[in-house]
Amino acid sequence: GRLLIVNGPNLNMLGTREPGIYGASTLGDIEELCRRAGADAGFEVELLQSNHEGAIIDAIQAAKDTADGIVINPAAYTHTSVAIADALRAAALPVVEVHISNVHAREEFRRHSYVSPAAVAVIAGAGLNGYRYAVDHLASLLRQD
Ligand code: DQA
Repeated sequence: GRLLIVNGPNLNMLGTREPGIYGASTLGDIEELCRRAGADAGFEVELLQSNHEGAIIDAIQAAKDTADGIVINPAAYTHTSVAIADALRAAALPVVEVHISNVHAREEFRRHSYVSPAAVAVIAGAGLNGYRYAVDHLASLLRQD
C-alpha cells in the first residue's frame, strides 16, 4: 500500500516558526517520522509540502489513482479552503487530518475546519506524534478492507 502525506503552507518553516506553539522539530523530522511509521506499517510513503493551494489539489487528485490513503496537515488552508476539502472528497480515499497544535485551544478562527467533514479522523495537539497516529490509523483501516 501507499500513503500520500501532505503538509500545507508555512510548515516548511517549522523549527524556527513560533517554536512556543509548534516546537523545535523541523519538516525534515516530520518526514523522517512519517517514512518510518509508514515502513513499520508496511506502507510506502509519498511526501509533499507546498505553500500553494493548487499544488496541494493536484497532488490529491493524483493520489486518487496512486495512493490508498491520505494524511494531511492543511495548515492555514484548513480554515479557508473549500477547494482542498472538495479534492479530498473527490479522491474518495480515507483521510486523516493532523494538526501539530491544539487548534481548539487557540484563536476562535482555528476551530473551524473545512477539511474535517472529508476526514475519517482528526488529530490535533499531539505534536509530531499526530503524524504517527495518523499513519497507524490509516494502516489499521486499510488492513480491514
Ligand atoms: C496547524 C494549525 C493551523 O491553524 C495553522 O494555520 C498552521 C498549523 C497545526 O499544525 O497546528 O499552519 O495546522
